Amino acid sequence: VMAEKAGYKHFMQKEIYEQPRAITDTIRGKYSLDDGMVYLTELEAIEDRLKVIERIQIVACGTSWHAGLVGKFLIEKFAKIPVEVDIASEYRYRNPIVDGKVLFIPISQSGETADTLAALRLAKSMGAVVVSICNVIGSSITRESDGTIYTHAGPEIGVASTKAFTTQLATLYLLGIYLAQLKGTLDKDERLRYIDALIKVPEDISSVLTLDEKIEELAKKFKESRNFLYLGRNINYPVALEGALKLKEISYIHAEGYPAGEMKHGPIALIDKNMPVFFIATDSHIYEKTLSNIEEVKARDGVVIAVATEGNNEILKKADYVIYVKKTVEETSIFTTTVVAQFFAYHCATLLGLDVDQPRNLAKSVTVE
Ligand code: G6P
Repeated sequence: VMAEKAGYKHFMQKEIYEQPRAITDTIRGKYSLDDGMVYLTELEAIEDRLKVIERIQIVACGTSWHAGLVGKFLIEKFAKIPVEVDIASEYRYRNPIVDGKVLFIPISQSGETADTLAALRLAKSMGAVVVSICNVIGSSITRESDGTIYTHAGPEIGVASTKAFTTQLATLYLLGIYLAQLKGTLDKDERLRYIDALIKVPEDISSVLTLDEKIEELAKKFKESRNFLYLGRNINYPVALEGALKLKEISYIHAEGYPAGEMKHGPIALIDKNMPVFFIATDSHIYEKTLSNIEEVKARDGVVIAVATEGNNEILKKADYVIYVKKTVEETSIFTTTVVAQFFAYHCATLLGLDVDQPRNLAKSVTVE
């Protein structure tokens, strides 16, 4: 078993460390820096149908749904096409409005999640063009799609998804630029800037991997907490949801993810000295607003862990603990912040002596409704 884990203690740890490689494999051959273009040859046969789509519906479960929420930000920003994101088990029972102008995107690591597959069948029967994002070649979801963009994460064994998530993000990012090309919404310079940022992601993630021990030290201070709040804004709001999900899945610490601006409408009532808050506070057009949310937590004696951008010294005065990540463009900050949250959950759980690869009550793939 040790051999399969290639010297790592757990599959989850191995899979966290594999992310720079997984992203490199996922984006390889799909872009050109000469013309600033993204090439998705797997969609060539349906390109004419994609040119006329007017709306997008992304449907998924669990961590893949969080990737979908990030995808909405990326696609709307790059391609200016309205995107709805649904949880598969909700979509299939809510009478969704679908026609031939809808691009339906199921996201699934396994390609076998029953609710996602059922949602796909419904959307397809109503005329949508279906492009899946999937990690398993030949899986049920890919067989029923009009096209599939594969993530090249490699087999993911840990029940808590890590590298599948970040490769889904990279794929949605590419798809956003590709759709922008079809719609003419980004000029060459803008595309080059975004492609360039994506190419740097494996390196950005590698720099977070060096923070492993530092994040373990932090986890030692918080592993006995019974509750946690994760807050982020904009494109990092879904990352807050994913961070909270990781923590609850493997450490059994109750954690809630929220968009930071919504804190005042509920979660703020929970804040006292026993309520740690994990803030994603990297540089962004909305950073100042996140900073005032941090102040609101401190005013109520909450304990703040902030993930911030290198060079931000101001935040040291506000947060109790700061984890610094490399400066990136806003649209790729999701990768570094995600990896910090993965490490934090991983260390809390392993320090508590829990089985991170096989958490209780959870399955890697849920093939029943
Ligand atoms: C299960 C797994 C999650 C996963 C979800 C969706 O709940 O434990 O890690 O995110 O299913 O799986 P999928 O294979 O469709 O991405």
